[in-house]
Amino acid sequence: MYRISVIPGDGIGPEIISEGIKVIEAAGDVTGIKFDWRYHPFGADHYLKTGEVLPDDALEEMERTDSIFLGAVGDPRVRPGILEKELLLKMRFYFDQYVNLRPIKLYPGVPCPLQGKGPEHVNFYVVRENTEDFYVGIGDRLRDPTHRSVLEIKRKIYEVRLDIDITQGGSEEMAYQIGVISREGTRRIMEFAFELAKKKGKTRVTAVDKANVLTSVYGLWREVFEDVSGNYPGIETEFNFVDAVTMWFVKNPEWYQVVVTPNMFGDIITDLGAMIQGGMGLAPGGNINPSGISMFEPIHGSAPKYKGMNRANPIATILAGQMMLEQLGEQETADIVENAVIEVLKEGKVRTYDLGGSSTTSEVGDAVVRKIEGG
Ligand code: IPM
Ligand code: MN
Repeated sequence: MYRISVIPGDGIGPEIISEGIKVIEAAGDVTGIKFDWRYHPFGADHYLKTGEVLPDDALEEMERTDSIFLGAVGDPRVRPGILEKELLLKMRFYFDQYVNLRPIKLYPGVPCPLQGKGPEHVNFYVVRENTEDFYVGIGDRLRDPTHRSVLEIKRKIYEVRLDIDITQGGSEEMAYQIGVISREGTRRIMEFAFELAKKKGKTRVTAVDKANVLTSVYGLWREVFEDVSGNYPGIETEFNFVDAVTMWFVKNPEWYQVVVTPNMFGDIITDLGAMIQGGMGLAPGGNINPSGISMFEPIHGSAPKYKGMNRANPIATILAGQMMLEQLGEQETADIVENAVIEVLKEGKVRTYDLGGSSTTSEVGDAVVRKIEGG
């Protein structure tokens, strides 16, 4: 029996999460696994009603469960940043989910926007560092030049050139945001990436950065990658600059096997990755603490426009459920889910609008369940 914390969230979140649960239940019935789903109301509605985003006692409750399953959060009525930082990022940090694992896998029957590319060309993992880099939350807006010396900030924190004379005429307002990585934080993500390569039979790990410009942070990033790679002599390694990666994902996705990336670049390149695997409706992600409590979610947002319309594609969420089962050590049940999804996609009869069909969210969930039940 697994206890799973569930946060359906906002927009399409509740609709897709219930399909995910339905499918996990069906697969668990086959292998004899039971689940106890513990629902939490957090998200925009709860926040607007109560002013509460994610209280500490809820985190403590979740800590006593085996995993977290999240739909989506975000709502136009709430200022950007609140739910993202105080709910999603708070959980990632609180549970030290230092891996954001995002498989980029194109399944048969799914249209790919890249001409001439099929499932044999798009099948790799992005391992996104999930607790450091520009996500550490160190930054400020300096509105009042007399409050702190803007010039001093410029000298001490920035090492940038400002060609404009900030003391003359115009506004002296500045803002800064700092990216921080640690040797230990980098080591553990590199180790995860190499171990994943080993486990999945991949033979190359690509490290992404921008070490030609952001030399301090990504200089350390590179050094640690090289250190750790020394323990994996059978695995080929390379560095790619992030700008080049966005080009190569499109031009030559078959090159990639395991890609390890700092947090912010990982955020960006996995949206691109989602497109080449057939769209946001198909892209799952896992926020993983290998020895703690992990959280699984589709990487797309809450799509408020489609709320309550039974229109959104639940497959990303169903595949997030598959990742959760795998992380719980239930490989057989995870495979049952993935194989059922593969069959439904290959058949192409039941599919949502994003894949050119007209099926509803729940029809897709039902079709996956039927495959699991041998129908
Ligand atoms: C994601 C999202 C989040 C991120 C936001 C909502 C904080 O874009 O999971 O990719 O930037 O990590
Ligand atoms: Mn993102």
